Amino acid sequence: MSLKGKVAVVTGGNSGIGQAIVLGLAKAGASIVIDYVAHPEATDALEREIAALGGAAIGVEADISRVEEIQTLVQAAVAKFGRLDIMVNNAGVETRTSVLTTTEDQYDKVLAINLKSAFFGTQIAARQMIAQGGGGRVINITSVHEDWPMPGNTAYCLAKGGMRMLTRTAGVELAPHGICVVGVGPGAVATPINLSTMRDPALLAKLNAAIPLGRMAEPEEIANVVVFLAGDGASYLTATTIFADGGIMQSSVGL
Ligand code: BGC
Repeated sequence: MSLKGKVAVVTGGNSGIGQAIVLGLAKAGASIVIDYVAHPEATDALEREIAALGGAAIGVEADISRVEEIQTLVQAAVAKFGRLDIMVNNAGVETRTSVLTTTEDQYDKVLAINLKSAFFGTQIAARQMIAQGGGGRVINITSVHEDWPMPGNTAYCLAKGGMRMLTRTAGVELAPHGICVVGVGPGAVATPINLSTMRDPALLAKLNAAIPLGRMAEPEEIANVVVFLAGDGASYLTATTIFADGGIMQSSVGL
């Protein structure tokens, strides 16, 4: 129970990687505010699962593309659990559209949900951590595509690239306050965001062949990294990204 007494907010917390992070942090002893925008029944199920484990979690419906709703999440953490120690900016979407086809609405949505939310999530969490004292952790769930082009998913790459520099710059700015800011860059993970790939056997085989470990990650394999980063063992990590990608960014066809 290395996170006993710690309080976390996880955005996009009732599905995919976010759900695994919520469970991982709760199993380690943290109390959690689970942000969600859809499927309240999934949040309820998660709350019940955590209660059965002897943990504490509350679901809060909030659209993290709106700054005042991020404020609502942090206020909920303070009102219910008294403080905020760990902010996980996890919520994300992609449109799989190219520079030639992306519409203004798609662009705005992808940048708001991935990048704007992480920027203001970092700001609002850091203000609370500074006010209460004692430092804290901000963990940004980015992607291998913070650094590695994904043709046909341009706005997503832009947003993740922005999160890379948010992590580095905010990490430097917030270090004097004892707040560490770290990115986690997953490769391909078996979650709803990748359903179209998982349902296409030819595409899935191509993806698996490009991954040195030969398979997609399970969400828990990303959550494990987040739990480590939230704990005392990661006290000297800030302003950088940890990639958990099965080696995909380094894969080479050997030509
Ligand atoms: C994207 C997926 C992609 C994976 C590996 C993720 O960040 O959401 O669409 O398959 O990276 O390239």
